[in-house]
Amino acid sequence: MRTLFFTFLQLALISSVMAGTRFYRASYRDDPSTTIDIGWCDDGTSTNAKVFYDVVDHGTTYSSYAFNHVIDRTQSAYSLNHQFSRLTGLTPNTIYYFVVHDDQGTSARMYFKTLPDNPDVGITFIAGGDSRTGTVLEAGYQQCRPNRQACDSLVAKIRPDFVTFNGDFVYSGSSSNWIDWFTDWQYTLGTDGHLVPIITVMGNHEASTDVYNIFDVPNTNDYFSLGIGGNLLRVYSLNSELSGCDATQKTWLTNDLQLYTGTANEPYWKFVQYHVPFVPHANYSSNTTLIDCWASLFQQYKVKLACEAHAHVIKVTWPIVTSSASGSDHGFIRNDTNGIVYIGEGSWGAPQRNLYTYYNANQAYNWTRNQVNSAGFQLVCVSTQKMEIRTVQAINVNNVGQVQISDPPCTLPANLPIWNPSNGSLVTINYNGSLPTGISNILQEKQKLFAYPVPANDKVTISFNKLIDDAQMEIYNSLGAKIKSILLASGIESKELDFTDFPEGTYSVFVITRSGIQSCKIIHVH
Ligand SMILES: [Fe+2]
Repeated sequence: MRTLFFTFLQLALISSVMAGTRFYRASYRDDPSTTIDIGWCDDGTSTNAKVFYDVVDHGTTYSSYAFNHVIDRTQSAYSLNHQFSRLTGLTPNTIYYFVVHDDQGTSARMYFKTLPDNPDVGITFIAGGDSRTGTVLEAGYQQCRPNRQACDSLVAKIRPDFVTFNGDFVYSGSSSNWIDWFTDWQYTLGTDGHLVPIITVMGNHEASTDVYNIFDVPNTNDYFSLGIGGNLLRVYSLNSELSGCDATQKTWLTNDLQLYTGTANEPYWKFVQYHVPFVPHANYSSNTTLIDCWASLFQQYKVKLACEAHAHVIKVTWPIVTSSASGSDHGFIRNDTNGIVYIGEGSWGAPQRNLYTYYNANQAYNWTRNQVNSAGFQLVCVSTQKMEIRTVQAINVNNVGQVQISDPPCTLPANLPIWNPSNGSLVTINYNGSLPTGISNILQEKQKLFAYPVPANDKVTISFNKLIDDAQMEIYNSLGAKIKSILLASGIESKELDFTDFPEGTYSVFVITRSGIQSCKIIHVH
């Protein structure tokens, strides 16, 4: 009886200091410089859960944090209860400390960093995928989980701005598989609680609602785009698991690419990720349906880097374009000026597959730069001048040093195991496009167009130069959909808008005149 009493007492003490929350993750539904979506799991019985956050570190004293936000969405999936708190109105390029607190306790203190809104700052991200464990008959099965944990540990050591994760998280949708996956994902937080956001893609091992339910992506279609670093980079997460060439997805993709090409908000770089490769480097057939659906769009709208997955090998291609001309191989030909570099193909621990080695062990196709069987992922450094890509192998992880949160973008940790194949360890894509004519002048005048207050609650005022002629004002939401078009009369210097009935988020405003286009952003909160 005495033993039982002490057990109850101990449990009571433990529960008063421990959190009922676990399996933390972060994602984006909107502008990564001013918003973040904090997700976690609880047991489904907790109440009054909130994220308490601040630019000042208050440890686990939740009541000292200046800001807090409630749960925006609760979602059950595979017997796990997922909670999502969507933070808005954040300051760009800023560290926020936070805890999750509910009636069962307070989490450890964690932190995240908002992305910059200025392309000159630069961005570092990790691109990978395929962390599923597999059947005992698959090659490399025994190494699945250790390799996954090694990749996750490397995230904490490299501290990228975010991870793009290209599908096939788990072998099959089950509670135990997702518990294992989230247990391992906590390695990415390192020893100091740095939560690195993840931009997800749906793989063939996910059911159609999994990514939406578990990572709270912007829509149930599991395809979306995000503008990053001001106009530095636009990331497209595409869904290769829809049947055939899905017309709705293609229309959305075409419209989004058009909106961000040859316009005032054109990014320096466009990056696409999707699960099933066009031409795999394991011994599979090409996916001609997806090639016909997407490849020419990528090329037309100046995508420069594409990450594929699914084949469980590592590959980097030379820049390539579609072609049936002499010298082409499997529908593609090397083109260093206009080509797209394809990387992948999903080695975040999944069972490794045999390489397709038509030319030699290094080369499946005549445009393959190099390929290898290894666990790992690609590390991408993005600036206005160039993108640099390195492949990181998940080996000797314990010897790898630690990047500090205060280090500049693209700081590499000591002893990082960078793959050094025959054609070199560093893939560089130089920015060779020019922004549309007149854009530089328009950008210099950008400060003359601005919105206030920031953030805006119900009414927001757009201030601009005195119009000498009629002008068109167009407002787009963060998914690139036009939500308002207003004719502005000549002679006015500002326009007040009512955002009361609009969802929270970041909106882009364009004022189009005969002399050019100016743009600014509205941050709207309720
Ligand atoms: Fe797959």
